[in-house]
Amino acid sequence: MKDYKELSQKAFELTQSEIERIKEPVVGLATGSTPEGLYQKMIEHYNKGYSYKHLTSFNLDEYIGLEESDPNSYHYYMNDKLFRHIDIKEEKAHVPSGITADFEKECASYEQAIKDSGGIDIQLLGLGVNGHIGFNEPGTPFDSQTHVVELEESTRDANAHFFASKGEVPRKAISMGIDTIMRSRKIILLVSGVKKSPALNKLLTKDVTERFPVSALHKHPDVTVIADEAAFTYVEKK
Ligand code: GLP
Repeated sequence: MKDYKELSQKAFELTQSEIERIKEPVVGLATGSTPEGLYQKMIEHYNKGYSYKHLTSFNLDEYIGLEESDPNSYHYYMNDKLFRHIDIKEEKAHVPSGITADFEKECASYEQAIKDSGGIDIQLLGLGVNGHIGFNEPGTPFDSQTHVVELEESTRDANAHFFASKGEVPRKAISMGIDTIMRSRKIILLVSGVKKSPALNKLLTKDVTERFPVSALHKHPDVTVIADEAAFTYVEKK
């Protein structure tokens, strides 16, 4: 893709065609800057008359310790960037809780809710500079399910620009596991910008290792990677 605009358009077309193909679609949603353009397109589509009433969604992750009303929580992000602008039903839009008293229970019930929905049809993913997907940091077992994670310093640095200072970036998060993600029937990975280029280059070497979480996708039968030209800056030509 030439640029971020084209990437967002392509991501929208692909996601939307899956949503329209399936009667009761279940979509896995991501946060961060990368999917914002896609969410914008979904809002435009809704404004032109399309209804997302039949959509069920599961977000990948949430920071631990942030209230839903905190502008840096992923609950807030999803409401702000998508949910409140379309007609998705509140009870069908799932985001793991970062403020529960019992995380073991929250993780198990999130997994169960995904299973009860019939499983994720299409999972959207962004990419961390260290190769993380969701908040699955390097070293996360490939058989992991929804779990509590300790964030790497590089992740806290990368996400610090959303916060007033790095000190405010939480140290823990709750995230779908690699196995949870891999059980999705279709996966779309969005990679935008020069900052993600080293990670994209590493992904394209095809080494599969838990030290580089996104490499698990090589074992999935239906993955589409949508990347813009900037993301190819450091990709070595074979
Ligand atoms: C966070 C999220 C990831 C996301 C990543 C990249 O760490 N937990 O799901 O993919 O950020 O974010 P961005 O799109 O802002 O580069």
